[in-house]
Amino acid sequence: PTVAVLAGGLSHERDVSLRSGRRLSAALRGEGLTVEEWDTDGSLLDRLREQRPDAAVVALHGGEGENGSVQTVLEMLRVPYVGTNSHGCRRAWDKPTAKTLVAEADFHTPDWVALPHSTFRELGARAVLNAMVDRLELPLILKPDQGGSALGAQVVRDAADLPAAMVGCFAYGETVLAERFVDGVEVAVTVVERTAEPEPLPAVEIVPESGVYDYTARYTAGLTDFFAPARLPEDTAKAVGELAVAAHRLLGLRDISRTDAVVMADGTIQFLEVNPSPGLTETSTVPMAVEAAGASLGAVFADLVTRAIH
Ligand code: DAL
Ligand code: MG
Repeated sequence: PTVAVLAGGLSHERDVSLRSGRRLSAALRGEGLTVEEWDTDGSLLDRLREQRPDAAVVALHGGEGENGSVQTVLEMLRVPYVGTNSHGCRRAWDKPTAKTLVAEADFHTPDWVALPHSTFRELGARAVLNAMVDRLELPLILKPDQGGSALGAQVVRDAADLPAAMVGCFAYGETVLAERFVDGVEVAVTVVERTAEPEPLPAVEIVPESGVYDYTARYTAGLTDFFAPARLPEDTAKAVGELAVAAHRLLGLRDISRTDAVVMADGTIQFLEVNPSPGLTETSTVPMAVEAAGASLGAVFADLVTRAIH
């Protein structure tokens, strides 16, 4: 079969996606598949109509590639594809929605408020920021409510830094997610549907040298130490796997996803977010988890392609 790996795109995470796409394409070719790497832009619809690949794999991150838009195009044209469908993407891509659904299922997630830009105009910036700090306390972390690769995210320890951090966050979208900052061991847990049942792969522990897992720490080799599997007690490792599978199911994810969480000193596990289209770059945690499970990225995705076609 001919497989189109959709990468690139127009989001802020374009470069990351090109790296994911390159690595995934090489891995799939290693499994004997015919792979075309498509840089995804406005011509996608025409190109899919004309070339009709047997399957597509969504290796796009951010924006249209992860918010369900590209998935809707694939569904309209009935092109089988690997990855979460449009409904699941819409739920998971919006962090407040994902946190709400996971919290309703009795998992922990750091307390938060979502602040649309309009609230600042209506109530005044000072009033909004004061109410936010009263509610969440410092330190807190600001993130675009929809975004990835930590772009626009900022830990705020001092109230004086809040206005600038807010402006930085609004550069990425209309709504800021302000979240209580939870200290602990950061883990990424991949879930994959190799059979009908989603299963967790070994958690990967993330230890950024700077202490902050920002864009640079994510994508510069050597700036972050990874432990796969994570150095967690057995019961905690099992519990983070259960959280990731629960998030995968609750949000309607398909094929493969990655849940990010923090294990606090007292063992409490805090759900941060789930990624419908997780990174597959040289420094991304999904390929590390696959390897720690004794599998290969190519074999896992080749299976997913087969499942998508049949
Ligand atoms: N958003 C990036 C690609 C990730 O979650 O890996
Ligand atoms: Mg993310």
